[in-house]
Parts: sequence; C-alpha cells; structure tokens
Amino acid sequence: MAKTSSKTAVNKKISKELLRRVKKTLKHVYAPYSGISVSAALYCSSGNIYTGCNVENSSYSLTMCAERVALFKAVSEGEKDFLLLLLHSPDIDSILPCGACLQVYSELASEIVITTVNAKDEFRFYPIKTLLAQPFRLKK
Ligand code: THU
Repeated sequence: MAKTSSKTAVNKKISKELLRRVKKTLKHVYAPYSGISVSAALYCSSGNIYTGCNVENSSYSLTMCAERVALFKAVSEGEKDFLLLLLHSPDIDSILPCGACLQVYSELASEIVITTVNAKDEFRFYPIKTLLAQPFRLKK
C-alpha cells in the first residue's frame, strides 16, 4: 500500500514537471503550414527529460512530429530506457500520436506509457501496445 502511494506521488510530481516542460516547449514550434502546435516531453529511466516540438517544412512530407524529435534527441544522447511520454497540443483536444510515431516508439520504447493532456490539464494514460498492438517488424 505504501509503495503504491509513493509511486503515485512520484508519478504526480513527474507529470507536473512534464506538463511544465511541454508548455514551455510550445514556443519553439515551427508550424507555418498547418498552424497546429504540438509538443512532447519524454521521461527516461535515467531521470532525464527530453522535449520536442513539431518542425514543419514547405516540402510537407519532411515535417517531423514533436514526439519523434524528443525520442531522437534522447536516443542520440545515449538514452535506452523510456518510461513516459507526455504529448500536448493546444489546438487538438486529447491528441494521440500518429501511426508513424507509434511505429518508431514501438521499436525503441516498446514498454512506454503515452500520456496526453488536454486544455483542462486532464491526463490520459495509454500503454503503447493499446495504441499499436502489432507494429511492423523485420522477420529474417
Ligand atoms: N504532429 C505531431 O507533431 N505529432 C503527431 O503525432 C501528429 C501530428 C504535427 C505534425 C504537423 O506539424 C502538425 O502536427 C499537423 O499534422
């Protein structure tokens, strides 16, 4: 019982910090084409948090999603174990990751919990396997 309570307290503390970070990161969004702002904060088992925002391009398909920016930053810094992703958009209520991001996260962060937060600061938690049950895998 005590263990559950302290875990909840830690989760609350982390969620609050992730919320602060996604809101702060919104100012770096580059989305002149869609006008949709998205930001992400990725919490690693190392204790480090990596943020990302969407970065669009006039050649539209080159646009990079916020959550992939955060993951690639983390992986390129040597992170290997990922606990929680917080995804936020002030323009889309309860945004969920796109299929491409789910595929990438399934490979690099297969146990992660994806968390979304809406404009009322209400959180929703989705283990990644509930969003993409059967990701693509290379079979040799
Ligand atoms: N976007 C993300 O950043 N993450 C997603 O999971 C879905 C979409 C961005 C890409 C683009 O800049 C804008 O949202 C509209 O599609």
